[in-house]
Amino acid sequence: MIIRPYAPGDDAALYDICLRTGDNGGDASHLFTDPRLLGEIFVGPYLRFEPSLAFVVDDGAAAGYVLGARHTPSFEEACEQEWWPPLRRRYPRDSFPAGTRDAHYVEIIHERRNADPAIIDEYPAHLHIDMLPRAQGHGMGRALMERLLAALRDAGAPGVHLGVGAANVRAIGFYERMGFATLRASENGRVMARATT
Ligand SMILES: CC(C)(COP(=O)(O)OP(=O)(O)OC[C@H]1O[C@@H](n2cnc3c(N)ncnc32)[C@H](O)[C@@H]1OP(=O)(O)O)[C@@H](O)C(=O)NCCC(=O)NCCS
Repeated sequence: MIIRPYAPGDDAALYDICLRTGDNGGDASHLFTDPRLLGEIFVGPYLRFEPSLAFVVDDGAAAGYVLGARHTPSFEEACEQEWWPPLRRRYPRDSFPAGTRDAHYVEIIHERRNADPAIIDEYPAHLHIDMLPRAQGHGMGRALMERLLAALRDAGAPGVHLGVGAANVRAIGFYERMGFATLRASENGRVMARATT
């Protein structure tokens, strides 16, 4: 298994990894009618606007990724200008029956909530990391994280934050081990952060 920079041909594989880890770290493919929906939110914008902060675990095929955004408000602005408008046209609010997982994420496309300015000052960057089961538990999560932290540092970001679901106890343990501290916690999840140095 190696870590390499993202390449344009990776998009479909990375969307699929997002879906297969999208249920608090477990496979979410049975929960969605539309297999691209999660990737359109959590993968696509990063590949489009921050391709130099995207790294892939490769064991002959893509098996995991880390995706970063250097300055969250600028990233949110770019998405608001160029990413969400065509997606909102493609996925109108009534695209899926109310109460379905697809409908929930379509609502997220329409109703964006920006990061808290109090967090941005110290931790302007944010990230997503996901690996398929075959790549987990071999040190590749740490390797991906260290690669992204170095890239963020080089890009001038002093700190990075992330969101994690309360039920994803494995990921929370991993982030704590990687030096992340909890800034906010609710019954749904946490915001965790650390310096890039
Ligand atoms: C969470 C995830 C990225 C961790 O990656 P990983 O490759 O399994 O983790 P690693 O093997 O690199 O472990 C790195 C370090 O964290 C430690 N660690 C991993 N999981 C841990 C846990 N639950 N509790 C405590 N420590 C943990 C490891 O022991 C290791 O310590 P060391 O390097 O100091 O010896 C990976 O399991 C994953 O992709 N899960 C599914 C998707 C997901 O949940 N993503 C996060 C969404 S918010």
